[in-house]
Amino acid sequence: MARRGCSASSAAVVLVLVVFLAGGPLLRCHAAPQGALVRGLPGFDGALPSKHYAGYVTVDEQHGRNLFYYLVESERDPAKDPLVLWLNGGPGCSSFDGFVYEHGPFNFESGGSAGSLPKLHFNPYSWSKVSSVIYLDSPAGVGLSYSKNTSDYITGDLKTAADSHTFLLKWFQLYPEFLSNPFYIAGESYAGVYVPTLSHEVVKGIHGGVKPTINFKGYMVGNGVCDTVFDGNALVPFTHGMGLISDDIYQEAHSACHGNYWNPTSDKCERAVSKVDTLIDGLNIYDILEPCYHSTSIKEIIPENSRLPVSFKRLGVTDKPLPVRTRMLGRAWPLRAPVRDGRVPSWQELASVASGAPSGVPCMSDEVATAWLNDDNVRSAIHAQPVSSIGSWLICSNVLKYNHDAGSIIGYHKNLTRQGYRAFIYSGDHDMCVPFTGSEAWTKSLGYEVVDSWRPWLLNNQVSGYTQGYEHGLTFATIKGAGHTVPEYKPQEALAFYSRWLAGSKL
Ligand SMILES: *[C@@H]1O[C@H](CO)[C@@H](O)[C@H](O)[C@H]1NC(C)=O
Ligand SMILES: *[C@@H]1O[C@H](CO)[C@@H](O)[C@H](O)[C@H]1NC(C)=O
Repeated sequence: MARRGCSASSAAVVLVLVVFLAGGPLLRCHAAPQGALVRGLPGFDGALPSKHYAGYVTVDEQHGRNLFYYLVESERDPAKDPLVLWLNGGPGCSSFDGFVYEHGPFNFESGGSAGSLPKLHFNPYSWSKVSSVIYLDSPAGVGLSYSKNTSDYITGDLKTAADSHTFLLKWFQLYPEFLSNPFYIAGESYAGVYVPTLSHEVVKGIHGGVKPTINFKGYMVGNGVCDTVFDGNALVPFTHGMGLISDDIYQEAHSACHGNYWNPTSDKCERAVSKVDTLIDGLNIYDILEPCYHSTSIKEIIPENSRLPVSFKRLGVTDKPLPVRTRMLGRAWPLRAPVRDGRVPSWQELASVASGAPSGVPCMSDEVATAWLNDDNVRSAIHAQPVSSIGSWLICSNVLKYNHDAGSIIGYHKNLTRQGYRAFIYSGDHDMCVPFTGSEAWTKSLGYEVVDSWRPWLLNNQVSGYTQGYEHGLTFATIKGAGHTVPEYKPQEALAFYSRWLAGSKL
């Protein structure tokens, strides 16, 4: 209980502390709630690499609206290292996607048969190597978060941001020792909306003197949704640059649409853009280099030489081929129909119209996460409600009615960066879901002076991608060869850019 932040190093002081704890009101040095401490995890043998805490924070007492978080303390120096809130996208997808498949402390190895408990191995590229990370399931109705009043499942960007802000204020009251750490908000895909809108709430709170004061420093977005026009016009140039359409077809589309691909205003443009859609139809939208499986009944086995997220290959101590993870995420909208204002179709609605997916199932599966998070021993170990009470964990929610009501996010980025908050916008350059061409274009459109002009960034003397730095602390970067969920494809590179950016160093 003598956690960091308390200067209790000798046994005597610890003893005094115990007395204080018992004494209640005299306690000045708060510690994390011991009831939230994770003491072990099914599927993992041995001691956890750092302290983990998990549980619920009630953001609305009257409705019984509860958001679930999982905190992984830094494995380096939790007293000084930054604290980062992580959000996956959707809208409606669980942040356990990030925990299980991207940058969490473990790699999950399939237990073999469907539904059997996975084995957990240390992830050498976990983001907890250099920071403490809070994985938050938001809004209520997503992942392990829930409300006792189902009217809460009708929600949108603004309510989600307000709830997540309430969550943070209450969370910091439970963990006040983290108030002095530099705090960042990060996420990917539809979290391109969540992250800046929540950052805006946090900053408004700081200006308004809301307590506790959050030591907010900046934010990070990977392959993030931002703006209907920029994102919607990004695909055609991407397919051209990647050699997926011919130069002639590109020129035809370009002259018919004048760059306005997202909302064709003539039949000629409509036809040209449909041609592009047809040509790329068979590709995996999250990574054009990866295979796409069109049916759930196919359970492919990966040949050893296949290209696959490294995190997966690395799993085995053995070189045994592993079943392809065919998980679905991020196809938040059909091709060329970027997120627009208003109601965002649910995953299930989209799946039923997704082209090339006769069974209604897009390219991926979520087997290990689903098996693990629907095991009641796991639920109990992480202080989550059992399946009998809140139902099964799904990677993307089927209960939300979600409204995109924040509009373009560009104004949020301008406001935040001009107020001195650092921003890192990164893109896996083989993602076709939110292509880098859109993120590169809108970051440039802010009109900021370039202070670090376009150049390769390196890891182990190899080019890992490209970056451009702007005034007002804005950085854009690509990660070479990565798909939509960057740390999943390039975990080593992801940990490198993450730790460099957090430390304020150049990429
Ligand atoms: C749920 O919340 C709505 C809106 O606040 C309220 O009108 C309704 O009575 C609540 N339902 C229940 C069962 O509490
Ligand atoms: C920017 O954010 C601050 C703090 O929340 C707010 O006071 C201001 O009105 C915002 N400006 C714009 C242009 O949105």
